[in-house]
Amino acid sequence: MNNASARASGRPATRLRPRNALVSAAVGLALVATSVVVVSSTASAATTLGASAAERGRYFGAAVAANKLSDSTYVGILNREFNSVTPENEMKLDATEPQQGVFNFTNADRIVNHAIAQGQTVRGHTLAWHSQQPGWMQNLSGTALRSAMLNHVTQVATYYRGKIHSWDVVNEAFADGSSGARRDSNLQRTGNDWIEAAFRAARAADPGAKLCYNDYNTDDWSHAKTQAVYDLVRDFRSRGVPIDCVGLQSHFNPNSPYPSNYRTTLSSFAALGVDVQITELDIEGSGTAQAETYRRVVTDCLAVSRCTGITVWGIRDSDSWRSGGTPLLFDASGNKKPAYNATLEALNGGTTPPPTTPPPTTPPPTTPPPTTPPPTTPPPGGAGCTASVSLNSWNGGFVATVRVTAGSSRINGWAVSIGLPSGSAVTNSWNTQASGTSGNVTFRNVSYNGAVAAGTSTEFGFQGTGAGPSGTPTCTAS
Ligand code: XIL
Repeated sequence: MNNASARASGRPATRLRPRNALVSAAVGLALVATSVVVVSSTASAATTLGASAAERGRYFGAAVAANKLSDSTYVGILNREFNSVTPENEMKLDATEPQQGVFNFTNADRIVNHAIAQGQTVRGHTLAWHSQQPGWMQNLSGTALRSAMLNHVTQVATYYRGKIHSWDVVNEAFADGSSGARRDSNLQRTGNDWIEAAFRAARAADPGAKLCYNDYNTDDWSHAKTQAVYDLVRDFRSRGVPIDCVGLQSHFNPNSPYPSNYRTTLSSFAALGVDVQITELDIEGSGTAQAETYRRVVTDCLAVSRCTGITVWGIRDSDSWRSGGTPLLFDASGNKKPAYNATLEALNGGTTPPPTTPPPTTPPPTTPPPTTPPPTTPPPGGAGCTASVSLNSWNGGFVATVRVTAGSSRINGWAVSIGLPSGSAVTNSWNTQASGTSGNVTFRNVSYNGAVAAGTSTEFGFQGTGAGPSGTPTCTAS
């Protein structure tokens, strides 16, 4: 294994650095103690974005372009730093169904196969969108378009079943500005229920993938568009329409800056019972100002237990769709920028910078923030680990998502034992290695998610036939 997370499990040795040793020797016992604390925490800090995020039970990903997989500098950074990838264009509708009923997965497969070989998870982007549609689809309307869209969702999600961590099922369905309305598009004109129809089709095709709604300009909690997406997710959750996550694209620039209430947005969505993923992060700028904004975004995500991952929209500035804004973590030569250092430091639990403006205390314009506090996962008492299962069942089958939480000490591996009722069987699993398919099944960590820092968690899942597990799982740490 030579991926970023795999390396997280190979712990760097704790050692005194010469400079610290000298200082300690020179200034006496009290300072020796302080130096040792600083040194040991520095020595245990992960050295790549993916490994550091994995220690926090999260992923750190990048948008990847298939035609850059032959660029050795690009691939070197990709393999070293990231444990999740999103195809930048290769899974879009024009790429995957260039003619109606004729599917092409060649370029998407290049990225997916590369990711699997590296132990990286894949975000699927995207199944239904008004943009980057093939010509034939742009010319369809009404029921013909509705069925073509549902067929597309079904075919693509079925083809990639079992390989996708999260799908952006629907992308950018809301209008900008103060209306809070849906964006006008050929898909929207097939009827307001097109979004939920797409989500139901995606769940049926790949019950193991998390299903996300993804959009931009939904970062500021006070914006009408943010509130409109919040209302959609709340409505879906209340009516049982399958949705597991919200993607915030988070393309930040002077016209659409990082908002000081970003954390409120993350925690408010999370309080609806969905994961929040930062899906297309880029921050235009340079130097310290850019670095500090990256630091804030990462710190906000880490403060919300259901903010489960961050993806930057490209690797080097020169790879960016907005390359003129130099919005990424590596410069055109592949060197780490100050923004990279701030991001890694924040992932490693660096100090929280004071917010530039105090977080707002006023409720949002149209919908009050949820009264229930965002769910947090308190560290269980003692060392070792605990596991909890959340089930999504239907007649004859289920998907179980299992959260493994480390106790008061960091763990380097885990095994979760789960009893299945008789007649039930595991048919598929992800982010784990399963022993057995029926009765008592043991799920062990894989290379990239064994290391879990104290009080943080990681997730794996499995799909099965029959009824889902009902007992309490047992977790054993190693
Ligand atoms: C962009 C890609 O980065 C470009 O290469 C392409 O030309 C246009 O699309 N929101 C999204 C992404 O959801 O798919 C977009 O990606 C950026 C905005």
